[in-house]
Amino acid sequence: MSSLVRFGVSLEEELLESFDSLSTERGYSNRSEALRDLMRDALVQARVKAHPDQTEVIGSLTLVYDHHARDLADKMASIQHEHHGLVISVLHVHISHDDCMEVIAMQGKASEIHHLADALLKLKGVKHGKLFITLPAKVITKRNPKTHAHTAPHKH
Ligand code: NI
Repeated sequence: MSSLVRFGVSLEEELLESFDSLSTERGYSNRSEALRDLMRDALVQARVKAHPDQTEVIGSLTLVYDHHARDLADKMASIQHEHHGLVISVLHVHISHDDCMEVIAMQGKASEIHHLADALLKLKGVKHGKLFITLPAKVITKRNPKTHAHTAPHKH
């Protein structure tokens, strides 16, 4: 593990108080841990957005859908078979008489995973769903020499 550093931050008192109360509500024992999570999330978002066609990500798509919707389960399975290289595992839960939940674990290029998730989410009969994407911890904190502060920013 890398060494810990401490740094000072100047900010408005109200902002800090609000942040501290939110952190406490969410169960953080201290503001450092809450801040670390925010920083990691910002880094993941930025890295995935910068190079969606090159960035290997891991993700999960959770979907709730109508068990009675015509052909829906077949369509969902077909789409996943077409992208079998991205799908690692699927968990299916019969959550009520009418609803099924599916959690699809995926690994691959960010752009391809978004494409697959969109294809499933837009199906008729899918009631709600959300894609979560992240990176291996070492990739989150890896420094990119191209984004070093002293070099000119490059455009995409
Ligand atoms: Ni079911």
